[in-house]
Amino acid sequence: MTDPLEQLKAELERFGEAHDASTTERPRRMLNITRDTGEFLAVLVRATMARRVLEIGTSNGYSTLWLAGAAREIGGRVTTVESAEYKIGLATANFARAGLSSFISLVHDDAGHCLQRTDPGAYDLIFLDSERSRYPDWWPHLRRVLRSGGLLIVDNATSHTEDMAPFVALVTADPEFVTCLAPVGNGEFLAVKTSS
Ligand SMILES: C[S@@+](CC[C@H](N)C(=O)[O-])C[C@H]1O[C@@H](n2cnc3c(N)ncnc32)[C@H](O)[C@@H]1O
Repeated sequence: MTDPLEQLKAELERFGEAHDASTTERPRRMLNITRDTGEFLAVLVRATMARRVLEIGTSNGYSTLWLAGAAREIGGRVTTVESAEYKIGLATANFARAGLSSFISLVHDDAGHCLQRTDPGAYDLIFLDSERSRYPDWWPHLRRVLRSGGLLIVDNATSHTEDMAPFVALVTADPEFVTCLAPVGNGEFLAVKTSS
């Protein structure tokens, strides 16, 4: 019998593709990561033993399911932040269906506000998949809330190179971070924090 979590992820992949193809209004689109990006995130969570995971940009929770499924296996949990009320409802229902609600804290807020009130070094791994124009403003907080040795992963590094350029330049120039580009899905920009 197929695992219910796998069934739900497959269902959300079909839903996201059909929904986004027929929805012109961008804020209403799901804009989910690709399946290979989900697999990549799950491997990174497990390989780095990231028990405290932060996701910025939940949408309907497709990427969160990959992160939380992996975090559960290593005794971890995920905090995920989303500003759109409509998507909070979808994500809440999907987390319950997956049986992962107790491993996920869903925060309905602007990510900038959420980051401001987060303690230094609070997270082992951060997955950033939100409003790209805001990333440079969020960078001082992102680098603060990531622990030393922690990993930042940012989606859309090759699909939206121009949008990402100012942020990639900031992180790459930061002497505390070592970076690379992984050609997975829409392009994953990785940055590891080397010291505090
Ligand atoms: C690309 S989608 C996330 C897709 C999701 N990671 C997935 O793969 O299933 C980006 C999400 O970020 C949310 N968002 C945009 N600006 C935000 C902000 N300032 N704070 C929190 N969420 C925001 C949008 O509502 C949208 O749902």
